Amino acid sequence: MKKITIGIFGAGTVGGGVIEIIEKQKSKFQKLGLDIYIKKCGVRNPEKYRDQFSSSIEWVTNINDILNDPEIDIVVECIGGIDIAKDIVFGALNQGKPVVTANKALLAAHWDECQSLSTKNEATLAFEAAVGGGLPIIRTMNTHLKSDNIQKISGILNGTTNFILSKMDTENVDYDEVLKEAQALGFAEADPTADVEGYDIRAKIAILANLAWDTSVDETTISTKGISKITLADFEKAHKNKATIKLLATAEKKGENIKCSVSPVIVPYSEILGQINGATNIVSIQSEFLGETTIVGQGAGRFPTANSVVTDIIQISNKI
Ligand code: HSE
Repeated sequence: MKKITIGIFGAGTVGGGVIEIIEKQKSKFQKLGLDIYIKKCGVRNPEKYRDQFSSSIEWVTNINDILNDPEIDIVVECIGGIDIAKDIVFGALNQGKPVVTANKALLAAHWDECQSLSTKNEATLAFEAAVGGGLPIIRTMNTHLKSDNIQKISGILNGTTNFILSKMDTENVDYDEVLKEAQALGFAEADPTADVEGYDIRAKIAILANLAWDTSVDETTISTKGISKITLADFEKAHKNKATIKLLATAEKKGENIKCSVSPVIVPYSEILGQINGATNIVSIQSEFLGETTIVGQGAGRFPTANSVVTDIIQISNKI
């Protein structure tokens, strides 16, 4: 049995979900030959979490307690935000430790540095959870689509805004009210501005474009419109045309030119996109050989997102 020792940062919506899945699935992972053990968890306030999880976890507040622990095989970053997360991810990669992160903001803002540190130190940087929550989109791009030429990527890649738009569409409820519900369900970012103004989905489409075309899109140059100005009157107009409103991200390569954008669009109910509701995400990839590949699934929330983190942990564990 291979023992894999984990140091995780964050025990909130995603980090807490990761700890719960690893504890619950322990015997299943043992059958796969992996004894996955969470040694330490880094959080700001250990008292908040100590009683919620296994007594064997050591709660620490200093990032170096995890980064400098030679027993830790994989560092998992689930705290979000950029500053401290960057110290964690860069610090671990610089020590040659594999990292699993759910942090799209960090990846989109520092893509080149993340990739070059991972390559230079021969340390895997896995980030399935950073795009589309529970959807296996990064894995699909890194396997099935690796030998293909991707031409276009488009999709609904933010669970919070899709949840809000679908409720406004079907239940005629007010924007502010639904946003509170999305926060309570653990879909929204700590600051929901990133969701509703489109910055979260912008980071995700930038990551997918970078991965698809081995480039480094400056996300701040992407034309981005969020949903904060959409009203019930806009839905009434769309309904007259048997259509609804969705927040869509697209990335397209024409020649050497890559164009990304984020905007609410009117979509007929008769199209698949018009039928994707709640926190569900969808992403379609058009490529030369495979044609159109579409993945649909839970794009936000504790367990779908944590599941993506855990699949990355398993994949790395099998290789080290
Ligand atoms: N806030 C994000 C969303 C979380 O709503 O999609 C998952 O990335």
